[in-house]
Amino acid sequence: MSERTSIHGQWSSRLIFVLAAAGSAVGLGNIWKFPYITGEYGGGAFVLVYLLCIALIGLPVMMVEILLGRRGRQSPINTMKTLAKEEGTTQAWSWIGWSGVISGFLILSFYSVIAGWALAYVIEAASGTFNGISAEQVGELFGDHVSSWPKLLAWHTLFILMTVFVVARGVRAGLEKAVTWLMPLLLGLLLILVGYSIAEGDFASGVAFLFSPDFDKVFYTCTTVAGAESCVFNGEPLLTAMGHAFFTLSLGMGAIMVYGSYMPKKNSITGSALLIVAMDTAVALLAGLAIFPLVFANGLEPGAGPGLIFQTLPIAFGAMTGGQLFGTLFFLLLVFAAWTSSISLVEPAVAWLVENRGIKRLHAAASIGFGCWLIGLGTVFSFNLWSGEAWQVGGKTFFDMLDYLTANILLPVGGLAMAIFTGWFASRRMSESELLLSEPWFSIWWFVVRFITPIGVLIVFLHAVGVV
Ligand code: TRP
Repeated sequence: MSERTSIHGQWSSRLIFVLAAAGSAVGLGNIWKFPYITGEYGGGAFVLVYLLCIALIGLPVMMVEILLGRRGRQSPINTMKTLAKEEGTTQAWSWIGWSGVISGFLILSFYSVIAGWALAYVIEAASGTFNGISAEQVGELFGDHVSSWPKLLAWHTLFILMTVFVVARGVRAGLEKAVTWLMPLLLGLLLILVGYSIAEGDFASGVAFLFSPDFDKVFYTCTTVAGAESCVFNGEPLLTAMGHAFFTLSLGMGAIMVYGSYMPKKNSITGSALLIVAMDTAVALLAGLAIFPLVFANGLEPGAGPGLIFQTLPIAFGAMTGGQLFGTLFFLLLVFAAWTSSISLVEPAVAWLVENRGIKRLHAAASIGFGCWLIGLGTVFSFNLWSGEAWQVGGKTFFDMLDYLTANILLPVGGLAMAIFTGWFASRRMSESELLLSEPWFSIWWFVVRFITPIGVLIVFLHAVGVV
């Protein structure tokens, strides 16, 4: 087979690929979503299931996405079409790419609103609002913030513009420089926060909450009727843990696939995937270690929901020396982490528009950005105008529904399809020649991709709908 090349360019080195993919993976999912869902679903047991999903589903699917992308060298839609043809199977597999374009669109629409909260908190931190703030005041501040839809809208608009700006410049010019120094800085600040939590928070309770699993509490819902307790299995935490493994690693929609399509041929896929997964997991756990000790020390509610980090971290910044500076830096870095992620949410769609419609990057990025901005209004209103029960379906706001649909359904289905295509419809040789793994490692990976990963995803789905 003659080597394909990407018309969109290539990363200048393996390090840049790893940093860009880690930049996509590490984002609001790690620092905002992981702590708040862990809090909502009761801690340890949820974390353990999440870590299992990362290892048994996330890592193998990450390798699948990179290898498919690097082999196809096009947008996910065209990559799947090309590879399906080459492997002698139906081109209907390109729907994986289409579903990814839709998921990316929907995710960015709410991602941008939350990133907007972080933007607003940069200003709050810098202007000293957090200095000496109490747990109660920090809750009020957050409440005031989300209840004002014009403010949320303004920040959401700004963040969409930032995303369009970088995507329009192209992946290399726009992204490479930013990721090389932002990621290490973010890690450094997280460590400072963990240090603060060790010194001033209730670190023991935080650690116990995160790491001592109580399966009965997390996976069973118990009710006491007439003095008799009856418990039923609840599949939602399980589904959410798996969905989050996909979300936090940016899997199942072609983001990693499109980044893989810009990866130089000689780089090791396995090594890169391991590094990306390790960094992503480390950042999530550090965020948990920074936040929960503060939650318990201040008598706050771990299940506070999407506002959790915005209602806890400012207390720490308000009390520590240099907090004004650290707080500003932290929320700024959170914005950057979200920025390097949001770019990857639109890149598959932009690459396709450029390839198939001959549209300029700027125009492609701007039209997609506008669409996401529009759908994002639903999320902006979910926290104020549409927060009432009249606007909810099954107790879920518009934002909750988008989050559920994408993370818990679309991404796992996409990842499952990629694993099935690779393990069952494409040749073993295709994977062998991209991974270049020695035995027994290749055979182990092959077995996992063919059996463990698909069966794992299916079991979780069946549990969630109550069949198992
Ligand atoms: N992984 C990112 C986070 O944790 C979000 C993200 C970026 C994403 N690109 C993605 C999620 C593609 C799913 C698919 O914040």
